[in-house]
Amino acid sequence: MSKTAHIATFGCQMNAYDSERMAGLLAKMGYARAQGPDTADLIILNTCSVRQRAEQKVYSYVGELKRLKAANPDLIIGVGGCVAQQEGASLLKRLRHLDFVFGTGALERLPELVSQAAEGYRMADTGLDAAPSPEIIVPARPGLKALVTVMTGCDNFCSYCVVPHVRGRERSRPADQVLAEVSALSRAGVREVTLLGQNVNSYQDPDSGLDFAGLLERVNQLPELWRIRFTTSHPKDLGPRLMEALAGLDKVMEQLHLPAQSGSDRVLQAMNRGYTRAQYLERVAELRALLPGLALGGDIIAGFPGESEDEFNETLSLLAEVRYDFLYSFMYSDRPFTRAGRLSGKLSEEAKRERLVRLQALQREIGLEEHGAQVGRVVEVLVEGPAKKGEGLMSGRCRAGRAVNFPGPPELAGRLARVRITEGREHSLLGELESAGEVKKP
Ligand code: 5AD
Ligand code: SF4
Repeated sequence: MSKTAHIATFGCQMNAYDSERMAGLLAKMGYARAQGPDTADLIILNTCSVRQRAEQKVYSYVGELKRLKAANPDLIIGVGGCVAQQEGASLLKRLRHLDFVFGTGALERLPELVSQAAEGYRMADTGLDAAPSPEIIVPARPGLKALVTVMTGCDNFCSYCVVPHVRGRERSRPADQVLAEVSALSRAGVREVTLLGQNVNSYQDPDSGLDFAGLLERVNQLPELWRIRFTTSHPKDLGPRLMEALAGLDKVMEQLHLPAQSGSDRVLQAMNRGYTRAQYLERVAELRALLPGLALGGDIIAGFPGESEDEFNETLSLLAEVRYDFLYSFMYSDRPFTRAGRLSGKLSEEAKRERLVRLQALQREIGLEEHGAQVGRVVEVLVEGPAKKGEGLMSGRCRAGRAVNFPGPPELAGRLARVRITEGREHSLLGELESAGEVKKP
């Protein structure tokens, strides 16, 4: 019987992509996908340390694996990703049931580490300087949508953020490699790709110097691909070329994630974000003028050290001014290695939570209004399959990235449908099918 591996993924889309790569490398070693951790011969944790809560989740998951190891001493357990990078060999000391630790730069060495662990060696590999591997890995059974990393790491050092410390410096993948990967995915049936980087605006092809707008132009030419999204854009680096690509390239969807983090100039400066509130709003106005249908997403941190009530109110007013379609909001969380961790004026958990609740209440109102404004419009939906909730409903996303549910036959999966919106809910839109287009090629 073949060996099986289970990969538990925590955190962002970058980790989801890395987990796919890990699965590809393990498949080459003969590991099939396990049904779950209980029956696996190998368990990999791909971890996140962006906030304390994320890190705690990893430790409680690791704790639960102790009983599996006790029942099956041959079980191999490896921890990868950002917590692995952050903690390194100390994880092996503290958690005796772990077999190996591999950081974010050691992903491609996973096969060696697994082989060594099978021979009884306990190792930690946390070298960060490796360039992204040129290998193209396409999942055995890709779905309609896929993630492709175009750059790794971050040079921005926002004062609250652990990412530059656990992902290293910015490195762009050569455009030819990205193209080859997206092209292989689209030939295997993928119709929508999301290009990933901590800061895609500073993408630069190491060979030709091509920028991100140029990369989008090339991806836009792949015939089997229908849709392109990308994330994340840093407001300080969002220039006219990218704005024009967003507006002008037919396959690039009308959606942009543009994290503001705060609406207060003093806090933005303390965060080392590199823009002011006015500059942020100016970019938003330019974008909206160019692309009136654009859905904007944002990230906000509530309760940054020293944030006053007035400064927080400036964030609320930024929300009201921008009117995001989707917002991720977080309570500030102390992270190792960061400058903000050493600042005075930390807020209590209750104070941060209270601000987060206010942020979310305001966003709920705005989101409902924005969704309500969609009623009567006809949108293009890439149909993914039956809706999780709701009998007989099919589900997909419109070009702006909103979830759309509508009554329709299961055969629509994999097709583009035109749907008239009849109701705007908090997290999704309801609609009626007008017509359906091309079938997904196998
Ligand atoms: N505390 C709270 N939120 C954080 N983020 C990053 N670091 C922290 C932190 N220390 C948020 C930012 C970022 C998103 C991915 O996570 O909003 O954009
Ligand atoms: Fe973190 Fe700032 Fe880099 Fe984003 S841009 S990953 S918030 S340091």
